[in-house]
Amino acid sequence: MFGSLLELRHDTHLSIDRLARRYGDICLLRFGNVPTVIISHPDLLQEAFGKPELADRWVSEIMDILSNRKDLVLAPYGDRWRQMQRFANRELLSARNLDNVRERYIEGIVNGLVDEMTDLGEAGEPVSPPAMVARSNSEMMFRAVFGRDEDGTGDFERLRGALLKHVNWIFGNATATNLADYIPWMRFLPNNALTQAVRQFEIGTAITDSLVEGALNRPGLDLSAPTCLVEVMLAEAKTGEIESDMINDLCMDLLIAGTDTSAQTVSWTLLLLANRPEVQAKVHAELDEVIGPDALPTVDDRTRLPYTFACLAESMRYRTIGPLAVPHQARQDTEVGGYLVPAGAQVLGNIYSIHHDPRFWDAPDDFIPERFLPDSDGAPAATLTSNAFIPFGTGHRRCPGRRFAETTAWLHITRMLHRLRFETPDGRPLSEDEVFGLAISPQPYSLKVARRLSGG
Ligand code: HEM
Repeated sequence: MFGSLLELRHDTHLSIDRLARRYGDICLLRFGNVPTVIISHPDLLQEAFGKPELADRWVSEIMDILSNRKDLVLAPYGDRWRQMQRFANRELLSARNLDNVRERYIEGIVNGLVDEMTDLGEAGEPVSPPAMVARSNSEMMFRAVFGRDEDGTGDFERLRGALLKHVNWIFGNATATNLADYIPWMRFLPNNALTQAVRQFEIGTAITDSLVEGALNRPGLDLSAPTCLVEVMLAEAKTGEIESDMINDLCMDLLIAGTDTSAQTVSWTLLLLANRPEVQAKVHAELDEVIGPDALPTVDDRTRLPYTFACLAESMRYRTIGPLAVPHQARQDTEVGGYLVPAGAQVLGNIYSIHHDPRFWDAPDDFIPERFLPDSDGAPAATLTSNAFIPFGTGHRRCPGRRFAETTAWLHITRMLHRLRFETPDGRPLSEDEVFGLAISPQPYSLKVARRLSGG
């Protein structure tokens, strides 16, 4: 299996897809020393990830160093995880808090990005959505978590730069498959990434400590009316709803789990629409008819813009940015669909293969937004709630950031397309090949952009 392990380091999800097609809906393979169960059928995955026995995390050595397995993403299924997960779902990422940070920070950042793209287009310059959207999303997530600089000492901005550098290091290194995770004797070889991870852990902790401390000492702080998510956490720690040592971990979780994922979703959607001018024209027509030139699309317009929403959903299926979820681990021998998942096995939810399985999708390798349009009587498409459409995962560890991600991606996509038309540089489709990483990204690309509306 050594050869297969090397193959898995690149395009991991495509290699896993090939293995799934060869060995079936649930299969047990051995990656080096690690028994790995791959689940590639929606019913089996729903059953598996609904079981507490399979809701622990399989954690790589590098992520173990970076997280201590104490944060929401990587903590084992247990009391600490449950407390953070409940808080994230019910309070931290609630509609009320999302509305608050959207109005204070997110909408302004999105509008700024659209203005920047418009200016570049008017100057005859191309735009590079992956880089620009990544920048605006990290700014957006940082502001949502830590709010705005109010003390004017420059410390806040310095910490912001340092934290983003740290998060980028994690993006660049966290998924590099480390053979020592699978082949124990390799742990005795020098490993630069692991040495750096120890240092990065210290750096990350020091920065978040300073930022949380800064928020606590913010002039005029009123925890009964939080202005950003760290203030929501501080308020909750005060009442004992969460432990104060959870605050740093939750801040890092939001920045790591929330930034790249949303940015790649927007980058993919723009690329797919630029490659398909006829689809983009339908989105423009819908925006013109429903919103018009004198208003801006809002979060409440989703049902009024069904075709645009269908494009976003289809983009999340067609290019699944979290193709293998986050690895789970079996706490004890567990049965799924009559098969044994052995204790200690890594369990991979093969969302990518489920999203591309012809048993559940007609022409799965084609981009067809129409499959997500409401029925003729106006009811939401069955595909949207089907267990074969699971970009945010399923079961106990499913994504608590779904509302957040859908809102920010929606605002980006609708506001950009409301004002702008995107075209490929020479009119021919650009590559839609995927680059494997913490989230699957397109290859870097640039587009021509033209202003459509005088308003907006
Ligand atoms: C389009 C964007 C996003 C996608 C496709 C996505 C997808 C996922 C997936 C597939 C998982 C793993 C589920 C599992 O292991 O079974 C996950 C977990 C998670 N996501 Fe997201 N996510 C997105 C955005 C966000 C955002 C914006 C946040 C925070 C604001 C977030 C926070 C988390 C957290 C904290 C977890 C870990 C949950 C746990 O282990 O209990 N995600 N996400």
